Formats: sequence, C-alpha cells, structure tokens
Amino acid sequence: MTRSFEKVGVVGLGTMGAGIAEVFARAGLRVIGVEADPDALGRGRDNLENSTGRALAKGRLSEAERAEILGRITLTTSRDDLADADLVIEAIPEVMDFKRALFTDLDRICKPSAVLATNTSSLSVTEIAATTGRPGRVVGMHFFNPAPVMRLVEVVHTVVTEDGLAEEIAALARRLGKTPVSVGDRAGFVVNRLLLTYLNHAAVLLENGLATRDGIDAAMKLGVGVPMGPFALLDLIGLDTSYEVMCVLFQETRDRRHAPAPILRELVTAGLLGRKTGAGFYDGQAVATPPASGKPTVSSVAVLGEGAREFAARLGDAGFRTTALETVTAGEAEDTLEGAVETADVVIALSHTPVIELAARLPHPRRLVGLHLVGDRLAEVASTVLTSPEATCAVEGLTKIVGRVPVHCKDRAEFVVDALLYPYLNDAVRMYDSGYAGTEDIDAAMRLGCGYPAGPFEMIDALGLETVRDGLRALYAEYRDPAFAPAPLLDQLVTAGVRSIRGLS
Ligand code: 3HC
Repeated sequence: MTRSFEKVGVVGLGTMGAGIAEVFARAGLRVIGVEADPDALGRGRDNLENSTGRALAKGRLSEAERAEILGRITLTTSRDDLADADLVIEAIPEVMDFKRALFTDLDRICKPSAVLATNTSSLSVTEIAATTGRPGRVVGMHFFNPAPVMRLVEVVHTVVTEDGLAEEIAALARRLGKTPVSVGDRAGFVVNRLLLTYLNHAAVLLENGLATRDGIDAAMKLGVGVPMGPFALLDLIGLDTSYEVMCVLFQETRDRRHAPAPILRELVTAGLLGRKTGAGFYDGQAVATPPASGKPTVSSVAVLGEGAREFAARLGDAGFRTTALETVTAGEAEDTLEGAVETADVVIALSHTPVIELAARLPHPRRLVGLHLVGDRLAEVASTVLTSPEATCAVEGLTKIVGRVPVHCKDRAEFVVDALLYPYLNDAVRMYDSGYAGTEDIDAAMRLGCGYPAGPFEMIDALGLETVRDGLRALYAEYRDPAFAPAPLLDQLVTAGVRSIRGLS
C-alpha cells in the first residue's frame, strides 16, 4: 500500500531543518516544527521568516503566499505533538548519541505506520534505524544547503529498509520539486563523500601555502565554474558540520585525505563556524576580488612553451616588445633558449610544470614566472623559489591586460585548479568502479546538490580521460599520495582507447 504523506514533523530548526520545513510547507504539506526549548524555537522561527522574507523581497512570493506557507507550519517544543505525523525528519546536530536518543523517543511517540527519516550528512542510517523497533521504516532523506534552492535529495536505504519505501520517499521528494537519487548507506553518501573530500583538500592546500583563500576560491569559480569557491562553501555548510563529516569519513576509510584539515579544527574551536556565526574562513564578507593594478613596469616579455606565439601576439597588440619560443623541451639547444630570453624584462613559461626545471636552465631565473591559462578567464601565476616578487607582479599585471584574472600560486604539480579537480574526478571514478552508484546518478547528484555546471563524468569527458590520467600521475609523482594515483579503471580505459566512462553504465 502506498503511504500518503500529508503531515510531516521536522525536528531541529537550524539552517537545514528550517529550510526543510519550508520546502514541505511550500509543497502544501502540514508541518510540525520541533525545537528543544523556547530560545531555539525562536531562532527557528527567525530562520523561517528570514528565508521566506527573502523570497518576498525578491518578488518570488506574495504576502498572501508567504502567510499561507508559514500558516502550514506549527512550531512546538513538545515532541509529543508528532504523534500523528506520517513522516518525521530530523535535522539535529551530527552526534550519534543525540540521534539515537531522539529516534528512541520518536519510535515511542509516533504512530507505528509513520516513517522516520534522518537528514544526517554522513552518520550511519543503519545504526540510527537499529535504535528503533521499526528499522524497516527508517531512511535517510538528505537535503542540501540552502534546502529551498538545491534540487537534490539523496534517499538513503539500508539493508533492512522495507521494500518499496525508498521509492515512496523518492516520489515524495519529486512532489517537493526535488530530484531524488537513491543511495546505499555509506559514510558521506555520494555528494558529501566527493564534495567534502575536495573541500578538505582545499583547506590542506591553503595551509600548505599553495595559494591564498581568495585565490583558491577565485580559481575554482573561474576555472571550473562552480557557484562558490571551497572556502565560501565551507562557510555556508558550517565548519562544525564539515569537520564532523570529515571525522566520520575518516573513521570509515582511514584515508589520510579524510582527516580534517587542522585549520578546520582550529576555526571550529574558536567558534568561527561560518555563516551561522557570522565568521569562518570569511568574516561575513563576500569573496574578495583581486586588487586592480596599473600597467606593469616592464617593456619586453619573452613567452616560452606551447601557445607562446599567440600569447606573445596579444601582448604585442598591447604595446609590449615580445619574443616567443614554442618548444622548450630538454632537447632544445640552450643557446636558442638563452637567445630568446636574453633581453626580456620578464619571462613567461606557459603550462610548464615544474616551472623551476626551466628556471634552472635560464641565465636570469629571477625573471621567470609560470603561467597556466585555464578556460577563458583564469590565469594561474606560479612563482618558483627563485622568482623575484617584481617579476610575479609584472606577470599578474600582464594577465589582466589580456583580460584574465590572475591567481598567484606556488610552483607545485598541476597548480591550483587541476590539483583540486583531478583527485575529485578520480574519487568519482573509484566510487563508480566500486559499484556504489552509476555515472548518471553521480553526475546528477553533483549538479543538483552543489550547483556544479557538470557532473564529474561529464567533466572527465570534456577534459579527456588521458588529460585527467596524466594530471593525476603528475600529482602522484609530486605528493606520493596513493589517492592521487589514477584509478585503475581510468588507466585501463585510456590504455584501451575508450573516450568516455559514461558509455559503460
Ligand atoms: N535560503 C533560501 N533561498 C536562498 C538562499 C537561502 N539561504 N540563498 C539563496 N537563495 C535563493 C535566492 O533567493 C535566489 O533565488 P531567485 O534566483 O529565485 O531569486 C537564488 O537562491 C540564487 O541566490 P542569489 O542570487 O542570492 O545567489 P547566488 O546566485 O550566488 O546563489 C547559491 C546562491 C544558490 C547558494 C549558489 O551559490 C550555490 O548553488 N552554491 C552552492 C551551494 C552548495 O554546494 N550546497 C551544497 C552544500 S553540501 C550540503 O549542504 C550537504 C550537507 O550535508 C553538508
């Protein structure tokens, strides 16, 4: 028999819980919102009023519609009010003991036919289900922040979930205007497993001084087209939540990359949790744009590497004296190389990694700066241990003249964007290869859950399997992290000349 979900309880009215309550109320369901005490309930009411107020201000809701939505939500501090709910979803902090205590209580209070759902980001749904006398009617219903906006719901079933229930919850998600993706009970499910690993990696690279917070955020936005850079997104998710998810992932995998970056722990301990406390990686400010600079104080530029002629021509059009040398491989005669750079104030090495190898061959290594052009708008500017600050500054100015945003970074394998992107793509290949989820579901989950312009497999196809494989090899050679070694499936597909993983599923 198909259940009808008309009355829904939401326990915990923080950012996620209030958003979830709003989503249900917007779809016409009656909602009982429960908080622990009157203060927390007041904050929950504020969350609901702010979110719907924002929609009102933007003209997406009329005053009457807003009143109707809020009118469908009853707020209470008594869990007993959930007795006749058809579905109760919890969105309380990510602490297993809290969840177990809550579900024991809900099991006692709610009618036997009611479905109990958890919005947990990463904890075991099976373990939560096992605390109740109805484990077959306990599922995960994982929303994404901001819940009223993000279109994905991960529907998590366990080995004991009643037949057909996951499909009923998926149908409910569709009724809410969301797209469900059905997943098994693994730490982090699809999205958090891939997303938080990437966000944690960004935090590690920040700590290593690869680039600045603003630089990394700008690089990922401009280079990949993600709606928010990793640090702005960590602030949105909440650093406490992110830290907790990483801990759960680490506990399950013992993978060093899942160990939360120390900077996360430090910020959390300091109470800097991101947007919810007004400060985190950012102190409430939007992502800073790189400061504008005037025309660089150089007049002659040498450009080396693939694409050198075209780049030099653009600088030539802007009035600089240029020389270009397309081939700078080790076999190139040293006097040709030295001749090309001899009179240049600054030397640009395009897409040459590591830059220092080339610098060591030049008579004036202080003048050499690496440049990696990504897409149409970004230029990663890599300085080596020998590069002078003046040369770096000049090249940043030159990239602006050709219409790109410079992001300064150290001379490390794959610079910023690819260093973050390729391991994420590799993780997606491993996830698919493990049989956990299909390529279509993983792609949809990342597009709809995180607003990515494309899913990981769509990205791999666009970049080329070989490019991604080779980038991973370079990362592995530099960092020796086993997780950066290309997934065997990726390696084999390249060897076999297959051009898309998506065709396999
Ligand atoms: N509540 C309600 N609505 C909101 C909102 C909020 N907190 N924030 C933004 N919106 C709405 C706006 O009203 C606007 O609607 P409109 O276009 O109909 O007017 C729309 O979203 C776009 O907002 P803005 O124009 O103000 O801002 P942006 O275009 O910059 O979009 C964003 C904001 C939707 C948050 C976008 O930056 C984005 O998609 N970011 C990625 C978010 C993400 O990755 N979320 C998943 C995190 S992981 C997670 O939650 C799982 C957990 O378990 C950890």
